[in-house]
Amino acid sequence: MSPLHVTRTLPEDATEAALRADVEHGLTDDPKWLPPKWFYDARGSELFDRITELPEYYPTRAEREILADRSGEIAAASGARTLVELGSGSSEKTRYLLDALTSLAAYVPVDVSESALTQAGRALVAERPDLEVHALIADFTAPLDLPATPGPRLVAFLGGTIGNLLPAERAAFLAAVRALLEPGDGLLLGTDLVKDEQVLVRAYDDAAGVTAAFDKNVLNVVNRELGADFDPDAFEHVAVWDARREWIEMRLRSRTAQTVKVSALNLAVEFAPGEDLRTEVSAKFRREGVSRELGDAGLELTHWWTDARERFALSLSVAR
Ligand code: SAH
Ligand code: AVI
Repeated sequence: MSPLHVTRTLPEDATEAALRADVEHGLTDDPKWLPPKWFYDARGSELFDRITELPEYYPTRAEREILADRSGEIAAASGARTLVELGSGSSEKTRYLLDALTSLAAYVPVDVSESALTQAGRALVAERPDLEVHALIADFTAPLDLPATPGPRLVAFLGGTIGNLLPAERAAFLAAVRALLEPGDGLLLGTDLVKDEQVLVRAYDDAAGVTAAFDKNVLNVVNRELGADFDPDAFEHVAVWDARREWIEMRLRSRTAQTVKVSALNLAVEFAPGEDLRTEVSAKFRREGVSRELGDAGLELTHWWTDARERFALSLSVAR
């Protein structure tokens, strides 16, 4: 069995410094916000995996359907010898690609969640003894230093996670992805599509309350890492569709007037009754917008596949 290589590209104190900066910035802003990457400690990653099995949360099933049907075409079009996956999580759907990419030499999963990455990486090296797995604990919105592995390279960004970036962040992210590619290398991008508001709101506010627990987990992370005293029960999880910007917002709504202390920042944060803290946006896309954003980054959309109900799309684009 080839060993699992795990590289942490940022020292742990840099992660803590980034969390401190984000919490200070987001909780003193108006309206208040926190970036979604802080959901994913070990519990948050586990809660996300439970979300993917909920009856209301269709994106994972829809994307799996496309991968099951189209991985052969994706493999033939890309001919990749290295698959880099950003925000790889459990790498569960990736197995369709790993099976189809018959010339693959290396798989490079990249994630901020060390627990998700090592769990998935260990399972993969046990299942596929010939595959080199180089796991990177890294923030995909920061410059990435990828291991030297054979080309062509295919970068996969699945799950619709690109929708969790704000438009300006998306543009910077796609330009950075383009810079990781040689001409002819590819990007396989999962994008959730615009659809009926009720379907979307239910997907982000499920009846069993798993998404609410996932949303509130960011408060547990800030409590543990920065000595804050958030009471998760003092906030209500809400999912709101923004029709103009075509995104879902997850918010934590303060049930009462309250003051939260963040001791590591020497900060006291006042919440008015009903005041919202935005914890995530999840943008939904249309083909024209995806093609335009890819084009702006120097990537040419060559393939567009959807599930049978046209809820979710996978696109393949090529670096020009
Ligand atoms: N690709 C998987 C997981 C999606 S969940 C799927 O389709 O099911 C989003 C994943 O992205 C999580 O594993 C989370 O830890 C990771 N993530 C979120 N923000 C990140 C960031 N800025 N840098 C690296 N990983 C990030
Ligand atoms: C990871 N990302 C694509 C998920 C989404 O659908 O935006 C995160 C999530 N938030 C709530 N449920 C799932």
